[in-house]
Amino acid sequence: MTDGLRAAVASGRLRTGARLPATRLLAGELGVSRGVVVDAYQRLIDEGLAAARTGAGTTIIARPRVRDSASDRRRSLDTLRLPLPPADGIDFDLSPGVPDLSAFPRTAWLRAERAVLDGITAADLGYGDPGGAPWLRAELAGWLARTRGVRAEPDDVIVVGGVAQALALLARTLHAAGRSRVAVEDPGSRGARDQLAHWGVRPEPVPVDAEGLVVGELTQDAAVLTPAHQYPTGVVLSPARRRALLAWATSGDRLIVEDDYDAEHRYDRAPVAALQGSGPDEVAYAGSVSKSLAPGMRLGWLIAPRRLQAELLTAKHDSDLGNPALPQLVLARLLATGDYERHLRTVRGRQRRRRDALIEGLRRHLPDASVTGVAAGLHLMVTVSSDISDISLAERAAGHGVLVHPLSWHRHRPGPPGLILGYAAHPPDRLTEAAKRLGEALSRPGQLSRPGR
Ligand SMILES: Cc1ncc(COP(=O)(O)O)c(C=O)c1O
Repeated sequence: MTDGLRAAVASGRLRTGARLPATRLLAGELGVSRGVVVDAYQRLIDEGLAAARTGAGTTIIARPRVRDSASDRRRSLDTLRLPLPPADGIDFDLSPGVPDLSAFPRTAWLRAERAVLDGITAADLGYGDPGGAPWLRAELAGWLARTRGVRAEPDDVIVVGGVAQALALLARTLHAAGRSRVAVEDPGSRGARDQLAHWGVRPEPVPVDAEGLVVGELTQDAAVLTPAHQYPTGVVLSPARRRALLAWATSGDRLIVEDDYDAEHRYDRAPVAALQGSGPDEVAYAGSVSKSLAPGMRLGWLIAPRRLQAELLTAKHDSDLGNPALPQLVLARLLATGDYERHLRTVRGRQRRRRDALIEGLRRHLPDASVTGVAAGLHLMVTVSSDISDISLAERAAGHGVLVHPLSWHRHRPGPPGLILGYAAHPPDRLTEAAKRLGEALSRPGQLSRPGR
């Protein structure tokens, strides 16, 4: 039934905006149980083709893509310098770092943009405050206080072009102050490391273990880390390490940079609060809509200790005079109306189903693997006991049509092997199939033959 509906959407017989019949009605017409129809609609929702709204039924919101082409390869901050295999032959791209782009809330965005354009004055379209639109700064301060325990007044928020620009501004400021030694996590985001280096500071890898960054090894002027869901291992910084890290910062006038890149995606428990809430004078907090809406928005926020703010604002002004006005106002409206929160609730449910399908598939097809980092985010880590390098394991997976990242790609120094699997972009049945392929590729390490496809 899902296939039939999917084909109808692909061919245009069911157009974007079309409302699907009530489940009871269609079940009656087709002579199937209502559960079958509910399941089929849910599958379309999971695939990002349809959306359900209480009282408004299920509506088609997008047409399916047959397959991503090489030029569509999902990029992330990390991809530029990674040795990705050729896209031909990859049926399942499980690269981490990208959300489900088909879930972008187009209708809500359009509605909000129209309302904003109706309401703004001509002056709102002039050069604005380089720190961002006051409305958005106020909405973000409130939102981040409520959801992440961040302590900030609206004026403390600088609207930036994503976490990437927050890192650039901070790097420039640290460099100018002669505080150029910056600890980064190992394994960690290679993109973030390259970017810091580009802006003149020296990223120095510090190990990550089962409790997160090994704070006892810090000797630098600043540390950039992902405490809530370490990228890419998924480890949460332990309470003892959080305390030690804050003590490290206060004892030597050092800066902690908290990259809260996937804060919105928590599944099994209340999210760990942001570190910034426990040390607003020590922590510069950065986040963005890249994992909640889409990375192409290039829209994020930086909340830095007050002593750094004037210099960061000057750096932001000198870089680009400030973010574009209209998307800032639209995001402010989405936050104010609750549409942003509703969108997050929807995608969180969908992500959880995808994560569960991948975990279940791995349990079935790779029963000896251990799966970690699953409580949050859009990716998880798989470790298998093997004396083969994770790079070779990832090559085998690619030979079976599944692109995964070997942990080594994100490491500076050698360490135990691992595979990073992003699950956000695929519906549950595709993830089950990807797990099966991985099982075929990895469970018999002696075999390198490709399956017929
Ligand atoms: C750990 C980490 N930090 C930062 C970024 C960049 O985020 P943004 O798109 O907000 O610049 C990414 C993107 O993949 C990431 O994985």
